[in-house]
Amino acid sequence: MFAVDRRSFLGTSVRSLAAALAAGPQLLGHRSSAGTHDHPTTTSPDNLFLTWQRDPTTTMTVQWVGHNTSYAESVISFAPTTTAAWASVKPTVRPFPLTDLKLFRAELTGLTPGGEYRFQIGHNPTTYHFRTMPAKATDSLTFVSGGDCGVNPHTAAVNAIAARQDPWFAVIGGDIAYDNGTSAATMLGFLRNYHQHMVDSKGRLIPMLACIGNHEVVGGYNGLRSNAPFFFALFDGLFRDTSYATLDFGDYLSLVLLDTGHVSPIGGEQTDWLDKALRDRAGRPHVVVVNHVPAYPSYRPSDDTGSGNREHWVPLFERHEVDVVLEHHDHTFKRTHPMRGGHIDRDGIVYLGDGSWGQLRAPNSPESRPYLAASGQSYHVSLHRLEGEQRYHMALEESGRIVDVCTTHKRPRHRIPS
Ligand SMILES: [Fe+2]
Repeated sequence: MFAVDRRSFLGTSVRSLAAALAAGPQLLGHRSSAGTHDHPTTTSPDNLFLTWQRDPTTTMTVQWVGHNTSYAESVISFAPTTTAAWASVKPTVRPFPLTDLKLFRAELTGLTPGGEYRFQIGHNPTTYHFRTMPAKATDSLTFVSGGDCGVNPHTAAVNAIAARQDPWFAVIGGDIAYDNGTSAATMLGFLRNYHQHMVDSKGRLIPMLACIGNHEVVGGYNGLRSNAPFFFALFDGLFRDTSYATLDFGDYLSLVLLDTGHVSPIGGEQTDWLDKALRDRAGRPHVVVVNHVPAYPSYRPSDDTGSGNREHWVPLFERHEVDVVLEHHDHTFKRTHPMRGGHIDRDGIVYLGDGSWGQLRAPNSPESRPYLAASGQSYHVSLHRLEGEQRYHMALEESGRIVDVCTTHKRPRHRIPS
């Protein structure tokens, strides 16, 4: 059973990669010739993207940055792809920090789980497409993750490889654009690339989730919320009161998005919150933690764990049987052995990373860093496939080459009572 599933995973992904490579440089350009995602017109925002503030099975949030005069009276009209049951919602309009631009946000609600939808802005003829997440994971489901992106040709190439996997969504684990809390132009550059590339093979926009990293914040660490103006402008629908949050997908997946000391200290309130958040989700098939600074670094010294997540969080991950932890910040590819209590343990937790969507460093080797099972110096994105209670993880280079494939096990039934 295992071998068949794994072969199927490899086969599917290799086929999509082959198509991506055959398409060549076209991947880095507009993908509108497919017909469903048209070329921008003069009033089509070039940085529009989708995200979630709450239930991904029944809502979708549309956001873009632009001049108020272009969209002041616009409403979003949306409908299932196969019917003309149109509904509409007026976007909220707020200042986009440090510019004279506005952030437009519209949450589409009352959607059907696992549904295919389309929407338009005002009278603009451009039609965008998306899908809602299913309520139950009756079929396999994939998403991509990575971190430390920026605005450069490598980021664009990894975007293209990510999109070609047809993921249901992407989660970026901090250091999104490298705006450093000061450069609106940098964040807008990242969003333009994301808008251009992160469209699946059926023309659907791929929603983006994110957690905060040091390059979102003036000074990197111990900042105020106001020191990360672009991150919170874009993502405060989910991070409404705190810089950490959970998002639950139907009855099958929970993402736990953490702040490794950039705005909120790791210890104290966030750790208390994490303990409860994980306890509340203990019975779910897939609990995935996403944070920026790694507990098990691949580049930085092994005792450099940021502001103490190995001390404060790892014991909670282990006690509550987190399934996998996605880490970033070190700009490498890495996979740890399953770890428990600081030792390799077959029932332990695998930490995947280490943030090289668009940034790169030379990692330590598994020989010199025993908790590492694999490491490499390659720009990459991780593809995760959930199938029942099984998880498959594939690391893909910007060229499309497969760097690594692994599985993570179901959580042991002998969970430690909390
Ligand atoms: Fe970082």
